[in-house]
Amino acid sequence: MRDKVRIGFIGCGGIAGAHLARLEKLARVELVSFCDPVLEKATRFSKTYGGKAFTDYREMLENVSLDACFICVPPFAHGAPELLCAEKEIPFFVEKPVALNLATARQISEVVRRKNLITAVGYVLRAYDTVSRAKELLAGEKIGLVRGKYYGCVPGAGQGWYSQKSLSGGQLVEQATHTVDMMRYLAGEVEEVFGYSFEGVNRQFYEKYDVEDASATVMRFANGAVGNLACTWLWTGYHSAVEVIARGMVITLEGASLTVDRAKEKCIYTSQIDPMMAEDESFIAAVENDNPDQVKANYEEGVKSLAVSLATLESFKTGKVVKVLSFSQEGD
Ligand SMILES: NC(=O)c1ccc[n+]([C@@H]2O[C@H](COP(=O)([O-])OP(=O)(O)OC[C@H]3O[C@@H](n4cnc5c(N)ncnc54)[C@H](O)[C@@H]3O)[C@@H](O)[C@H]2O)c1
Repeated sequence: MRDKVRIGFIGCGGIAGAHLARLEKLARVELVSFCDPVLEKATRFSKTYGGKAFTDYREMLENVSLDACFICVPPFAHGAPELLCAEKEIPFFVEKPVALNLATARQISEVVRRKNLITAVGYVLRAYDTVSRAKELLAGEKIGLVRGKYYGCVPGAGQGWYSQKSLSGGQLVEQATHTVDMMRYLAGEVEEVFGYSFEGVNRQFYEKYDVEDASATVMRFANGAVGNLACTWLWTGYHSAVEVIARGMVITLEGASLTVDRAKEKCIYTSQIDPMMAEDESFIAAVENDNPDQVKANYEEGVKSLAVSLATLESFKTGKVVKVLSFSQEGD
């Protein structure tokens, strides 16, 4: 490893800009290359942060020596960039969701495991100190009930890839994966899911909209806890939360806040940290120290959260309870 961690970006859109605004503040990071099929996007970043611009990630990985790569592409573009980074043993940070299907995710996961590669997935909520506090409070408690919500508007006002199933996977795969992941992070693996979906309203307003407007899912966790998840893109605002209930305690995580409600006593903690900065710093530290434990969500965690969302889509389709483990081993 050199003095500085040399970083390249594949995908130069909105979330890449958010990571770059953090990474440029880290003296131990050097931003060396940017790739986007739209040259102007890669060039815009290379002009701001230095480094070279590319339109083809293969050319970039062939010509620039990297210590780590940020892969910030839309869901439909996952697969080949991760596989090439893994084959070249370049640690990577990839934005969620890790893929649109389990076949792709499993293929990448296999190479990551074989190469013993450091990876991270952008489950940024895990980086909040309030989430660590919630985990401490729940340690040793028997969790009975877990509830997740994700209410939002149609991203990108129905333009672009978010509202098309073949490009984004829909709300549960694309955005509510944060909620699914937090439910897993706090309460353990999801064993079974059963869900209903609702659609037909948003597609009247957006030309290329073909995903669910709302969904309601019931879950059983491996530890016996039960849960539910309610999601919608029918709203115009944004609200997302996870509630965990153990004996005598309701814990609610919502953005930067953690509420611990013990009926007679209610405490609210508000995080003061920037979770994306914490997430990015952990990944850089993991690369510097060659220590995968410094990352809160590695590639395999991303695959497990994806498997829950895809099993739920399968339940919408079949009207049946779906076992997540068997689905993720056999299904797609
Ligand atoms: N963790 C979070 O909180 C968070 C927040 C926002 C977005 N995201 C995720 O980040 C991903 C990207 O979102 P965004 O808002 O930046 O989207 P975006 O559309 O703004 O940017 C994506 C960029 O990737 C480029 N691209 C497409 N295919 C590519 C390829 N094969 N190689 C290189 N570049 C390619 C596009 O040209 C575009 O510039 C999504 O999966 C999204 O869910 C995560």
